[in-house]
Amino acid sequence: MDTTTPSSSIRNFVIIAHIDHGKSTLADRFLQVTGTIETRRMRPQYLDQLDLERERGITIKMAPVRMTFRSSSGSLYVYNLIDTPGHSDFSYEVSRALTAVEGAILLVDATKGIQAQTLSNLRMAQQAGLTIIGAVNKIDVSGHDVDAVVDSVAELLSVPSDAIFRISGKTGEGVQPLLEEIAIKIPSPKRFFSERVSSESLDPSCLIFDSRYDDHKGILAFVRVFHGAVAAGTDLTLVSTSTFFKAKEVGTFTPELIKTDHLSDGTIGYIATALKDPGLVHIGDTVAGGALVASPLPGYREPTPVVFISFYPDQDTKFDDLYKGLMRLQLNDPALVFEPDHNEALGRGMKVGFLGQLHFEIISERLQREFGLAFMTSFPSIAYRVTESGIDRIIKQTTDWPAKPDAVYQPMIDLIILAPGRYLPNIIGLNSVFDILILETKTLGDAVVVSARMPLSELIRDFDDQLKSVTAGYASFSYELSGEERADVVKMEILVAGESQPALTRIVSRRDVEREARSTVERLKTLLPAVQFSQAIQAQVDGKIIARETIAAVKKELGNFGKNGGDRTRKMKLWKKQQEGKKRLKETGRVHVPISVFREILKKTK
Ligand code: GTP
Repeated sequence: MDTTTPSSSIRNFVIIAHIDHGKSTLADRFLQVTGTIETRRMRPQYLDQLDLERERGITIKMAPVRMTFRSSSGSLYVYNLIDTPGHSDFSYEVSRALTAVEGAILLVDATKGIQAQTLSNLRMAQQAGLTIIGAVNKIDVSGHDVDAVVDSVAELLSVPSDAIFRISGKTGEGVQPLLEEIAIKIPSPKRFFSERVSSESLDPSCLIFDSRYDDHKGILAFVRVFHGAVAAGTDLTLVSTSTFFKAKEVGTFTPELIKTDHLSDGTIGYIATALKDPGLVHIGDTVAGGALVASPLPGYREPTPVVFISFYPDQDTKFDDLYKGLMRLQLNDPALVFEPDHNEALGRGMKVGFLGQLHFEIISERLQREFGLAFMTSFPSIAYRVTESGIDRIIKQTTDWPAKPDAVYQPMIDLIILAPGRYLPNIIGLNSVFDILILETKTLGDAVVVSARMPLSELIRDFDDQLKSVTAGYASFSYELSGEERADVVKMEILVAGESQPALTRIVSRRDVEREARSTVERLKTLLPAVQFSQAIQAQVDGKIIARETIAAVKKELGNFGKNGGDRTRKMKLWKKQQEGKKRLKETGRVHVPISVFREILKKTK
């Protein structure tokens, strides 16, 4: 079937699920059953194209794929599947994918049941107005109550239990009936007419949901055609940047790129733009053709980085290598932002913004693996909006913190926590450690669903670990950024041997500052490497010392000079060395703080 498929025979859909519930494996079976990939070429997680994705078994980037499916009644359909990532940090990518499709398969692992991201992804799909088909996966694994999971998914979707598919992505059981259901249930592509494009116009209007860089074809825009058709040579405009270009090539995904004559109404494919500047092709932007430039299609949300971590080149890595590596990764990761940074002890570096902790881990690993870079990283920090003398500023590092801010606003998150009901008291108990506001608790089968609100800054304080530990590992959670709120926070400086240590300075809630100060100096006392003279560790807020500990000198104490025939020359040497050490410390004003210390200090304690 070529790309002139009538839109009534096209089905565009996604698979949504909690992480590890089996999306990629199910996508593999779809590719196989529809004959898109010959069995001998098949390898697990076919749509996960990055090495890192395969090794970690998680999907970072979606890979769209076009399949043809002949139903049992003999009709031929084109199925465009977008595989989506399952982790909260990438929920933005899920939201992009959802704007390009009409339906979703909600996949739930029979061995785990509904988990937090099942709920948050479902909510996003429902908000996008998608038709949802429920399926319970991994039914080949014995010893689990599949009926109970099927019932809970049915309850969640408000459908009878027999409307939920029972499948195994691994063995292929139940996959054919699920493919049949897609043709029956999921509507054919909707057309979208913006105010300025009339239904009679044939001018194309497409939504960009992803992009890649190609050395020969320039930037490839991955698009959903909402109206009209696009062919090689069509004059097009990128609406948000008013950039005109001629389509160099168009095609579809098998998932390899296959050149086609044109992309028709309702389908999903790519447009080679021949543009080289990645700043021009924005994900979520509209590609429009013709004399009238359409207003942008709806459904796009700018990704907002919320956690900032500085990277400093280490060993043989040069600053320029780090910069180039980040530039390359940014090409298909619009959420990745960075700017030059400088640290007295670590030199020139890059302050990088992330969507969350996992996003940071993935980028660090990719920089190391794909570009062979070595680097050190700083404490994660959060962006605060601070007003001072009527001026609003976004502050990402403590060194820029004003002495007397008028007001401070911090990013907030809405959380969904899902766990077996018996752990509810423990989850509620987390409010003695974290600034978490429980909004609602609901039961779903044997599980409890807790909705809560919390400052984002609490999330990077090992919330994940502590939630897991109070629920014996059973809880799952997902979150999304949800506006900002006034924050009562102060800057807590740490002084070692009387010198302020910018790397250890943090913004903390006023409510917790005493406890934080005490626990930080106590922990630093045990964590910092001992030196040959005793030194004070102090926590200071608004110029006042509020906690203090002393690190004793290492046990090479000086003896009593001259008594008992001690070796005076040797002791004098040692004394001199210690004085030099102190002088050097005074000059540089810095102690060496090992990176491992940061992580420990970040942990919250009661
Ligand atoms: P993310 O991309 O990280 O969100 O994961 P995913 O949802 O794509 O899950 P994936 O397909 O990678 O599967 C997770 C694990 O479950 C893998 O080890 C799969 O082999 C296994 N798995 C998936 N489907 C089945 C199934 O039907 N039966 C069994 N026994 N294992 C399965």
